Amino acid sequence: MTNLRKLSAVGVGPGDAELITLKGFRRLQAAEVVFVPQSKDGSMSLAHRIVEKHLSDDQLVVSLPLPMTRNPDLLVPAWESAAEAILQVMVANRVTNAVYILLGDPMLYGTFTYIWERLAVMAPDLEIEIVPGVTSFAATAAVTQTILSTTDDRLAILPASYETDTAVLEDLLSRFDTIILMKVGPVLSQVLESLDSLGLIDKAVYGERVGMPEEVLVTDVRTLMGQTRPYLSLLVVKK
Ligand SMILES: C[S@@+](CC[C@H](N)C(=O)[O-])C[C@H]1O[C@@H](n2cnc3c(N)ncnc32)[C@H](O)[C@@H]1O
Repeated sequence: MTNLRKLSAVGVGPGDAELITLKGFRRLQAAEVVFVPQSKDGSMSLAHRIVEKHLSDDQLVVSLPLPMTRNPDLLVPAWESAAEAILQVMVANRVTNAVYILLGDPMLYGTFTYIWERLAVMAPDLEIEIVPGVTSFAATAAVTQTILSTTDDRLAILPASYETDTAVLEDLLSRFDTIILMKVGPVLSQVLESLDSLGLIDKAVYGERVGMPEEVLVTDVRTLMGQTRPYLSLLVVKK
């Protein structure tokens, strides 16, 4: 593979354009191409919305369709196609600096990690750089003024919609001082019931689309009982 140089996976933070790091901002400005993961429900293209005003007209923006599904028969080919598309665009345009943008931090449930595996096989000479970003839970903790941990507090991060066994979830909730429940929106109702039965419901705060114009913050989470909410949401439980 020729003409390849560097691809930076840039975490653009959870929503507030002010929360992009200086390094991420510089990588964005230096990039000839910006790769944007795109989902049908639009949640991934939110990363593009965050950085849009920092981009200039001569920068090529390439959308990479990635389905919002757990079905490996759909996901694996999509990751392969995304890796192929990245390489094809970089070679065809003799790109030396490209970025792949994503919400929050690239290493925390980020789409890039799957594509990275394929790129490493398809183009071992391509330099990959990871530029960290402010995570959604860091932003939620800041805006709700929730201290995540002090001294010897045990903190856990859970993917709530994958914790389908209530007994396991309740066991985990009881073991840690602080629990961050990501991907919570679709299962919010069940999770709140578990928190209620453990006497923890008043210890939780809810953040949805934090930092975005559509932000929802709820400190009395009892008001959310019985509801399902969008995917871009999380709970922080601090005992
Ligand atoms: C695929 S993971 C991406 C995590 C992201 N890389 C991060 O560092 O926060 C998607 C989950 O992140 C959380 N999330 C991402 N952005 C968010 C935001 N602006 N507000 C609330 N939750 C968010 C939600 O829990 C969502 O289900």
